[in-house]
Amino acid sequence: MMYKNPRLIIDSSNPPEPGGIVWRSPSNIAIVKYWGKYGLQLPRNPSLSLTLSSSFTDTRLEYEFRDDTHGGSVDLDFFFHQEPNEAFKVKTEAFLNDLAAIFPFLKQLKLTVRTGNSFPHSAGIASSASGMSALTLCLCSLEDLLFGTLQDAAEFDRKASYLARLGSGSACRSIFPHAAVWGETAVIAGSSNEYAVPVGDQIHETFKNFHDDILIVNSSEKAVSSRAGHALMEGNPYAEPRYAQARQRLALLFDAMRAGDVETFGKIAEDEALTLHALMMCSNPSYLLIHPGTLAILEKVREYRAASGHPVYFTLDAGPNVHLLYPGEIIHEVRAFIEDELKEHCERGYIQEDWVGEGPEEV
Ligand code: PMV
Repeated sequence: MMYKNPRLIIDSSNPPEPGGIVWRSPSNIAIVKYWGKYGLQLPRNPSLSLTLSSSFTDTRLEYEFRDDTHGGSVDLDFFFHQEPNEAFKVKTEAFLNDLAAIFPFLKQLKLTVRTGNSFPHSAGIASSASGMSALTLCLCSLEDLLFGTLQDAAEFDRKASYLARLGSGSACRSIFPHAAVWGETAVIAGSSNEYAVPVGDQIHETFKNFHDDILIVNSSEKAVSSRAGHALMEGNPYAEPRYAQARQRLALLFDAMRAGDVETFGKIAEDEALTLHALMMCSNPSYLLIHPGTLAILEKVREYRAASGHPVYFTLDAGPNVHLLYPGEIIHEVRAFIEDELKEHCERGYIQEDWVGEGPEEV
């Protein structure tokens, strides 16, 4: 394992004072999608995402030195929105135990995680990217606080991204401001399957001022999880051409984003959304995650764009909710369009208004 480090052990004759670390980390929306993986959370193709702002997780990691071994495993309490949460505790404990070779000091501490999202729990907005990135940023801050070993900001981010990837693939892209690429591609120097790299400083200002309003068509838990969806790509007859297509589209998208070419960006975003769901429809067994309301919105977006000339585009995650992408200059027009025509397809009229942001912050 890349970051294995047996030296990260606390000297029990000089234990740290109890303390806490807090990070706020946002979600991200992929424009070229990651769908299909191998090995330990490694992507079959590179992906590019925009980092969001208003959909975030706040995580506080509290630690206290303990002198016994707690049966050789991590000792964790977990609170979600102030309430103890057994399901999250079990998942997080398993993740932290898996990191024992990277962070051996975790087993020397009593840990408490207090976490919460900026969006309603049952909104149908995935919190794994924001949640996992917030947690791994806390872990890297803790390593640095105890050992002073992550002073270099780029190295800090890379390690946080690597660890977030182990927790939930797409979470590795949330570490960086504006935009990030995860997965090896010839068009981005230093790109890797192991962690994401920042590309925000290479894209046109237009995309740093982009909005992503998330239209919640249905907030229920998905019938098929992302984990199962990735696994089904292994038997999908279109898998190989799909991975080649994603590589090609990423190169075209990156060019368009450097040039400020909103139209090409939007075309690729929509094509990728439809490809993602087409792959689900032709998996074996096949499945559908879009709802009638999703389709109604997609058609209305295309009609509105044709009629108004406004550059409004859609993308989808692995679910029925629609992400509406558009440049900040047309926010008033688009918000009126949402209100008049799209809101009726949203569950309880719920829309999470979001935009491209500056990435995580330590609070
Ligand atoms: O990170 P995971 O394993 O939840 O997979 C996410 C996959 C998509 O959200 C559909 C696409 C992506 O690149 O984020």
